[in-house]
Amino acid sequence: MSSTSADAPSRPRVILGVGGGIAAYKACELLRRLTESGHSVRVVPTDGALKFVGAATFEALSGEPVTADPFDRVHEVPHVKLGQNADLVVVAPATANLIAKAAHGLADDLLTNTLLTAHCPVLLVPAMHTEMWEHPATQHNVALLRERGVNVMEPASGRLTGKDTGKGRLPDPAEIFEFARLLLARPDALPRSMAGVRVAISAGGTREPLDPVRFLGNRSSGKQGYALARVAAQRGADVTLVAAHTADLGEPAGVTVVRVGTALELRDAMHAAAETADIVVMAAAVADFRPVALATHKIKKSSADPDPVVLTKNPDVLAELVAARREGQVIVGFAAETGDETGDVLEHGRAKLKRKGCDWLVVNAVGDGKAFEVEDNAGWLLADDGRETPIPHGSKAQLAATVWDAVTA
Ligand code: CTP
Repeated sequence: MSSTSADAPSRPRVILGVGGGIAAYKACELLRRLTESGHSVRVVPTDGALKFVGAATFEALSGEPVTADPFDRVHEVPHVKLGQNADLVVVAPATANLIAKAAHGLADDLLTNTLLTAHCPVLLVPAMHTEMWEHPATQHNVALLRERGVNVMEPASGRLTGKDTGKGRLPDPAEIFEFARLLLARPDALPRSMAGVRVAISAGGTREPLDPVRFLGNRSSGKQGYALARVAAQRGADVTLVAAHTADLGEPAGVTVVRVGTALELRDAMHAAAETADIVVMAAAVADFRPVALATHKIKKSSADPDPVVLTKNPDVLAELVAARREGQVIVGFAAETGDETGDVLEHGRAKLKRKGCDWLVVNAVGDGKAFEVEDNAGWLLADDGRETPIPHGSKAQLAATVWDAVTA
């Protein structure tokens, strides 16, 4: 059954501001994600944005009227009402000009008026050339906005409009969507509370090769580790993410990514990152075993009796990191448990925390469609001093925010 206007007010109301940059076309994907996940979205572009993407595209995708002009339908007082009634304002892309106007309270179009009347959380997603991003004027404006509680995302690095690359790319729409969802659930989830904190995080699942085309792997998508990295980076931390095999999760904005394949590669990368890290998080699913022999050629079906696969143990990276821990370094482990005849999920988690010797353990129940390859998560956060905090069901970004709150408290 299609939704009716009668049920619209109960849906979270999002204003999607679109600035005049080439990344305006990516706002269409963000819009799609927001509407398809049940949000009511009103797009408010600038005149510049409408030179890149026509109003018809935004109207068709949102099902709402689109204008940059505060004098359109003036009897509805849109320059005040839109901001007042919103649950969240996201501006993507936020150009240097738009950021400057927002910082100084200018209101010469519908979007800048809306920014002045919004009481809800605001997420500005910058996209501009590196020089413009790094210019002291822009940096000053960003700092001013953050001081006022506006969430200004770190831009991503990579290919810019022309042939050049650098910092200033619009973060992946999926990542912006994740933060939008997070701020709707928890408006205070992205404080700049981790500035100067160095964090090393592992994510994804390692793959242990059998021959040039086959491997032993696991079902980890890396989503939880990526969410931890993204939230820490937005809180101002200096983040290194050691990523084993993951689903297609894009490049997390403001994060240094080190790609690895096997457990042994992950171990080396994590030891290197942990040398300077204040907080180390092992969210990766590390293979406990690897094949003893790696065939140099593809094992052929025609080989009548294939050799059995003989396995050997991989190192326990978390236990090694705990053993090598520097004074004051905080170490967080993850445990994916199913529960069995010897104990339930939480009992297994408590035993694992003791066995591993880390400071914190995030315990997830897995199996029956829980935790792996899904968007949401739930569990417990166990501290080595015996505190046990249930983590309510929510997005992986929400779980990440809960973990960072506790670990950095
Ligand atoms: N871990 C690790 N190195 C391994 C295996 C796991 O560092 N070789 C880390 C994981 O990243 C996670 C924690 O240890 O943070 C717990 O992983 P889990 O697979 O739940 O536990 P195991 O130690 O493998 O124990 P078991 O399989 O018996 O439950």
